[in-house]
Amino acid sequence: MSKKPVRVAVTGAAGQIGYALLFRIASGEMLGKDQPVILQLLEIPDEKAQNALKGVIMELEDCAFPLLAGIEAHSDAESAFKNTDYAILVGARPRGPGMERKDLLSANAQIFTVQGKALNKVASRNVKVLVVGNPANTNAYIAMKSAPDLPRENFTAMLRLDHNRAASQIAAKTGGTVGGIEKLTVWGNHSPTMYADYRFATIDGKNVKEAINDDVWNRDTFLPTVGKRGAAIIAARGLSSAASAANAAIDHMRDWALGTNGKWVTMGIPSNGEYGIPKDVIFGFPVTTENGKYKIVEGLPIDAFSQERIDLTLKELTEEQDGVKHLL
Ligand code: NAD
Ligand code: LMR
Repeated sequence: MSKKPVRVAVTGAAGQIGYALLFRIASGEMLGKDQPVILQLLEIPDEKAQNALKGVIMELEDCAFPLLAGIEAHSDAESAFKNTDYAILVGARPRGPGMERKDLLSANAQIFTVQGKALNKVASRNVKVLVVGNPANTNAYIAMKSAPDLPRENFTAMLRLDHNRAASQIAAKTGGTVGGIEKLTVWGNHSPTMYADYRFATIDGKNVKEAINDDVWNRDTFLPTVGKRGAAIIAARGLSSAASAANAAIDHMRDWALGTNGKWVTMGIPSNGEYGIPKDVIFGFPVTTENGKYKIVEGLPIDAFSQERIDLTLKELTEEQDGVKHLL
């Protein structure tokens, strides 16, 4: 017997990431090839955006995806999030050349207050929320704080793109395979201060730190390359990453919903004080997932260099949070 359809809300559905994301959700890449979905798509009321959304919907229809059980277009968060089981919050202004992601804070903070309140009011009580719009960690914090009736752990931010970028750099450096990487993580903020940490990682069964054996490369090449990859893509494309961002969103939600089988992945999630990160800060942590729940990998040793990097990214996140206090 076929499964009951689940509701997936996506905001910014007519934007670049939306265009790279929706077709993959509808084809079953996110929630499984046996899981029908109803897409609840949100765009701003502006005529151009709504028309663009109509065009995307026509294309979704023309794919005749067997798993696509319904498509809805919305211009208001409360109708878009009604009973939704998953919410991927992409819609926000992207940064341009020369901007940092935190420069988007005031432009985008308002959006996540409104959307957090709407989720609080109408979404499924088990809704899994992924914030992609930047600055993703702080936007997720705003949405979580605006939704006091939903469990805090339902709110997550996307660090998976940083995780995937780090994996790809490590595979290239060591000559191993990306698929053979285990126990990699990225701590902290989705920003150049993130700390991609391969101290525990293995690639094709070999220890990554020993295989690379070069702390200078780690500090001066690897970390800046991963941290500044978003800016490098903007400089090259004139637009921020879209296909790789959509891919990371699919990876994040798939792993959260379907489980990682013991494999570590990185998710931006509200801290409960683990590793000295204050409660509620949305921080990139190593997690495993099972039965729709994530669990932080605890007890990892943190050396002096790692502590310094974790402190730095935490400081930035704390400053971002302080900057939005007046909105909450
Ligand atoms: P885009 O400008 O192509 O699309 C954004 C869409 O969102 C637009 O169609 C816009 O009309 C819509 N939108 C704006 N405000 C909205 C609202 N309140 N409700 C619903 N829709 C709204 O941008 P994009 O390239 O798709 O990027 C979207 C966001 O994702 C940006 O903030 C970008 O910085 C961020 N991003 C994050 C990551 C990550 O790893 N976390 C990666 C890439 C991009
Ligand atoms: C990315 O990392 O590619 C996105 O966050 C877009 C950006 O502004 O860097």
